[in-house]
Amino acid sequence: QVAAASGHTVVLVDQSDEILKKSTKGIEESLKRVTKKKFADKPEAGTEFIQKALKNITTSTDAASVVHSTDLVIEAIVENLQVKNELFKTLDKFAPEHTIFASNTSSLQITNMANATTRQDRFGGLHFFNPVPMMKLVEVIKTPMTSQKTFESLVDFSKAVGKSPVSCKDTPGFIVNRLLVPYMMEAVRLFERGDASKEDIDVAMKLGAGYPMGPFELLDYVGLDTSKYIIDGWHSLEPNNPLFAPSPLLNKLVEEKKLGKKTGEGFYKYK
Ligand code: 3HC
Repeated sequence: QVAAASGHTVVLVDQSDEILKKSTKGIEESLKRVTKKKFADKPEAGTEFIQKALKNITTSTDAASVVHSTDLVIEAIVENLQVKNELFKTLDKFAPEHTIFASNTSSLQITNMANATTRQDRFGGLHFFNPVPMMKLVEVIKTPMTSQKTFESLVDFSKAVGKSPVSCKDTPGFIVNRLLVPYMMEAVRLFERGDASKEDIDVAMKLGAGYPMGPFELLDYVGLDTSKYIIDGWHSLEPNNPLFAPSPLLNKLVEEKKLGKKTGEGFYKYK
């Protein structure tokens, strides 16, 4: 959405036409939200902006057959290294020489993915934040093999889509998640100990620390499965780090398929 709205030609790839239809609809709705304020007194210009952005997007269910026309691939599939590596390995065969590959992973090592390809110097991380149209940040990750030219191209692209890039080494959670995920897990532990209710913890962090969402609202927003995946991955890397300890309550909710806003229930219920 943000790439198309800033004038880039985008091919959106997913597993089925049904998902792509839903995604395109979601992008249209989100563009409407963005333009409502931006073009408040010029609704016609708003409609034109939406149409122009949507025109920049085509869709496909076959990544290998469309990658030949791309300068940049941004992968945002399931947080599973093996699945990501399989995809990158295939795309590496069909992509032009100059094409840069980037992953939007929340917690996995970019170096591991780069090593599944033959373009380690043209590989980096581009980590966006939910909801992407609103959040201004992009973390640009440079592995020891990423060339300076690639890094600069990723920084330039981030700026071209209207974001503010920061850079970080290829370390677990980069900057934001390395701080945010242990904070959210501490909130769960505080609640699990019975020290405060989740409602009060959320109110406290909103009114006492100025956060737009409390930790439980944010966990539901990000997805409890995603949060669990991140913490489990880090726990296996550093089993003795108490900041990365898994939470029985989070595990239970995920087991019960209460994954947050997207499933209608997580820590809270959504209608
Ligand atoms: N698309 C377009 N616009 C959106 C949107 C979306 N998906 N979601 C919200 N907006 C817009 C609304 O239209 C509204 O615009 P307006 O001010 O012009 O009317 C504006 O955002 C504010 O929305 P709301 O009034 O509905 O609600 P809030 O004021 O509570 O803001 C929020 C919503 C922007 C999500 C805010 O609560 C927030 O910043 N929350 C924290 C989000 C956060 O921490 N994200 C990082 C998560 S971690 C992550 O993503 C990393 C990953 O790896 C796990």
